[in-house]
Amino acid sequence: MKKALISFVGSAETIKLAEIIKEQLEEKNYSVNLTEVIKHKKQPKGNKGKPVKLKSGITDWKPFDLVVLGFPVIGISSSHLMNDYLRQCQNVSGKQAAIFIGCVGLHGNALKKASGIVSFHGGKVKDSIIVSSFLGLNDKKISQIKDFALNL
Ligand SMILES: Cc1cc2nc3c(=O)[nH]c(=O)nc-3n(C[C@H](O)[C@H](O)[C@H](O)COP(=O)(O)O)c2cc1C
Repeated sequence: MKKALISFVGSAETIKLAEIIKEQLEEKNYSVNLTEVIKHKKQPKGNKGKPVKLKSGITDWKPFDLVVLGFPVIGISSSHLMNDYLRQCQNVSGKQAAIFIGCVGLHGNALKKASGIVSFHGGKVKDSIIVSSFLGLNDKKISQIKDFALNL
């Protein structure tokens, strides 16, 4: 059985998208580990300029055949927390990744930024999807995200 990791930052909409993707990957016989990336409340002193300490989020990609990353667009870019998470992931080299992004319409360089960090560490972003949650998730958007997951 193939193993997939879904790592996400975000709340309501991102969690919904992550769960839809998890279901579809399970349909494809993946064993899926869904984890939320959460920042630790207490950051070490002198950590300025370094990636934040995480409270949760699997950072070792070694066991996984596929890693799916999800986050909301914040300030026309990818969330800082996702960027920080990606900077401290290990065994990224040679791994297949995919990215899903939630926004209300202005995604700016969010995809480029997160894919750039994955590529810098030797991972390959095989596909991505940007979902606008403006006016909520309708059937069309849900079906697009299902297709995205099924084709991974
Ligand atoms: C502080 C903040 C900044 C945001 N900046 C953007 C933005 O620049 N462009 C955009 O399209 N959406 C922006 N959004 C909207 C979020 O991307 C959207 O609410 C999110 O995808 C919903 O997912 P969530 O329920 O997991 O938070 C912003 C939201 C917040 C809270």
